[in-house]
Amino acid sequence: MKRTAIVTGASRGIGFAIARQLGKDGFQIVIMDMNCQEDYQENFDLLTADGTSWIYVQGDICSIKDRNMLIEAATETFGGIHVLVNNAGVAPRVRNDLLEMTEESFDRVVGINTKGTMFLTQAVAKQMIKQEFIDRKRGTIVNISSCSAEVSSIGRGEYCVAKAGVSMLTTLYADRLASEGILVHEVRPGVIATDMTDTVRDKYNKMFEDGIFPIARWGMPEDIAGVVSAFCSDKFNYTTGNYVDVDGGFHIKRL
Ligand SMILES: NC(=O)c1ccc[n+]([C@@H]2O[C@H](COP(=O)([O-])OP(=O)(O)OC[C@H]3O[C@@H](n4cnc5c(N)ncnc54)[C@H](OP(=O)(O)O)[C@@H]3O)[C@@H](O)[C@H]2O)c1
Repeated sequence: MKRTAIVTGASRGIGFAIARQLGKDGFQIVIMDMNCQEDYQENFDLLTADGTSWIYVQGDICSIKDRNMLIEAATETFGGIHVLVNNAGVAPRVRNDLLEMTEESFDRVVGINTKGTMFLTQAVAKQMIKQEFIDRKRGTIVNISSCSAEVSSIGRGEYCVAKAGVSMLTTLYADRLASEGILVHEVRPGVIATDMTDTVRDKYNKMFEDGIFPIARWGMPEDIAGVVSAFCSDKFNYTTGNYVDVDGGFHIKRL
């Protein structure tokens, strides 16, 4: 039986690389993103060329209506949901010192990254619980948090708070859903070359030159996709509530 994976924010960047990899792994793919499908059609053509079955659902993870539409589209088209990758996320529009951060920016970043992830996961978990077990498992959920779940950036504190919240969601859902046959994992990217990091390219280039990252290069979306693919395989069936840093060793404390 073919299994189905929802990947949010998967028109481009890390989400698209995850969708492409999971398609190659044999999953049917449901992409949810805010953009018009035509905006990133060249990416979706690559999925088709790979031989992947996919559908696109235009919507916002923060909208209950859109979340319900997503679940309905996935189950009506493919018969069920076996994987959810919570990838959709935003950085603050402006990097502001902690003492200047606005409530509007805090609400936006925490609202999408943490609250949107919280309630989409809740809705998908309820759907997964209705489904049959396949090899002692009903589903897998992977949260894309960030090294910012732990690392302080005083110029974008709202993002750090939001991603620390996503990490707690990993723990909570792993605890709640283990008895339902649903495993929950987390991937913490470091600095990955996507549109999100485009505006701070020079800053990070300098950090690579200065040897701050043990593996001194930009992470690529495919580096994240490889780890998500492993979590969604059947190789991690006695593991839940864990995270992997995919950050070129940036998390290592040095003396
Ligand atoms: N790039 C990095 O270095 C890095 C590092 C650590 C963690 N991450 C995390 O990795 C994930 C992907 O990042 P990325 O670099 O690939 O970002 P990206 O290039 O900005 O892509 C993010 C995608 O998510 C979509 N999205 C945003 N809000 C959404 C919502 N409410 N509902 C549905 N889709 C939404 C965006 O749509 P729009 O085009 O409409 O905005 C966009 O297509 C994010 O959670 C990010 O925080 C990235």
